[in-house]
Amino acid sequence: MDYSFSVPEKEPDRQNYFMDKCHDFVETYINDNGKKPTYHVETFGCQMNARDSEKLSGILETIGFTESENEDADFVIFNTCTVRENANQKLYGHLGNLKKKKEQGIIRYIGICGCMMQQPEIVQHIKESYPYVDIIFGTFNFYKMAELLYERIYGDDRVIEVPSEPTVNVERLPEKKKYSFKSGVNIMYGCNNFCTYCIVPYVRGRERSRVPEDILSEVRDLAASGMIEIMLLGQNVNSYGVNFMGDSEIISNNPEYGFPELLSDVCKIDGIKRVRFMTSHPKDLSDKLISVMKDNPKICHQLHLPVQTGSTQLLKKMNRHYTKEQYLELVDKIRAAVPDISLSTDVMIGFPGETEEDIQDTMDVIKYAKFDQVFTFIYSRRTGTPAAEWEQLPESLVNERFQRVLSLVHEVTAESSGRFEGQVHEVLVEDINTHLDGYVTGRMSNNILVHFPGDSSMIGSIRKVRLNESRGFYYLGETDD
Ligand code: SAH
Ligand code: SF4
Ligand code: F3S
Repeated sequence: MDYSFSVPEKEPDRQNYFMDKCHDFVETYINDNGKKPTYHVETFGCQMNARDSEKLSGILETIGFTESENEDADFVIFNTCTVRENANQKLYGHLGNLKKKKEQGIIRYIGICGCMMQQPEIVQHIKESYPYVDIIFGTFNFYKMAELLYERIYGDDRVIEVPSEPTVNVERLPEKKKYSFKSGVNIMYGCNNFCTYCIVPYVRGRERSRVPEDILSEVRDLAASGMIEIMLLGQNVNSYGVNFMGDSEIISNNPEYGFPELLSDVCKIDGIKRVRFMTSHPKDLSDKLISVMKDNPKICHQLHLPVQTGSTQLLKKMNRHYTKEQYLELVDKIRAAVPDISLSTDVMIGFPGETEEDIQDTMDVIKYAKFDQVFTFIYSRRTGTPAAEWEQLPESLVNERFQRVLSLVHEVTAESSGRFEGQVHEVLVEDINTHLDGYVTGRMSNNILVHFPGDSSMIGSIRKVRLNESRGFYYLGETDD
């Protein structure tokens, strides 16, 4: 688009400039309609996307939009995931539903961004089959929301801009947080691991860590605004610090400062009471990290450690860089250091070449590790990944295996879930319970949910709660302050 005015080149000045420019649209809208325009961001996928959506919302609210709880909004954005094929199908389902609303004028603009848009053939498909989509952008330029919206409002055509790799790193932009007491903090972006089934490295780019000073000053600001719980986020937090990034390029690395160092520095910040992190790749989980977890009371007793499969030969084909025995050793070491830790994992069934023996190995690991939670996924073939080229297993066989693993998971998690019954634990109160009148809902340090009698004045505070009754995935309790 050609502008008749001069636009700042540097970020974030450029985006601040466009947020300001979009105010004209909002003012005209208010004059015509007597109310502010609305937006709705629908987020699919993982914590990374959830964080990006907070930034999209922050930008739109700064422009003057207000949030709508449903898709009857002036501007609807889908922040997409493509880790499995069913994530893609979800988007197409939604898009189909919105066509009528767009024709009726209920929705003015539809935007799509996120991981799925990083695949050129998908963008092509959307361009051809969903002509009513107005703006398409990707994972590397979502910070340009205001500029892209401006182009759509004042330009003649839909706007499609999907860079294939990151060009500039823009952090200092508005955000809308879901909670006032807990927040995610990105410590790194992208992934270098190239597990042979996984699309993430292709759609999120190479691994880049934020420099410690930036992360620590963000956490200090969050603490000053009243946040007490922080979740440090990355696809593989244990390789934090291998590639530090500057404003636009990888600047250096520092072998002396990795994830354990960052974690203990975050814990030193006054006001922060709980620190979590995700995700940990087993290949890089160091003894140093385990000892930081053991020594630091602010670090939550929760670890998500995706195993994928218990079979050493499949792990090799998956490019995971650990064996069944190494994973089990890791579980032992962690449990020895933090005995009441709650372990969770991801398991994949139906990877190419998987045998009955491999499934037995996976079941062994599930039984041994006594996970509190196991996320089980059917392998999904992702175009462009090495495993997509290998011979795939028949669906019926995979489904049968999946059901077997799932029933074992239910058995194991049911057994481990009741183990805290009768104890008193600290619970961070998150919300009013919408199913039980007069109850609130919160999380223990180990991330397990607890419902107990209370009111909205408790939200954001940490309470001591007696866990009276285990109900599988959650507890019913009462305050014991
Ligand atoms: N970085 C994290 C995982 C991110 S994706 C890690 O390595 O642990 C979250 C989970 O989705 C993975 O742990 C894996 O179990 C699952 N997943 C990834 N690609 C998949 C695929 N092609 N089919 C099925 N599940 C997949
Ligand atoms: Fe995907 Fe593996 Fe990277 Fe996790 S570590 S995001 S599973 S490639
Ligand atoms: Fe999905 Fe992208 Fe996360 S593919 S799992 S939203 S990094």
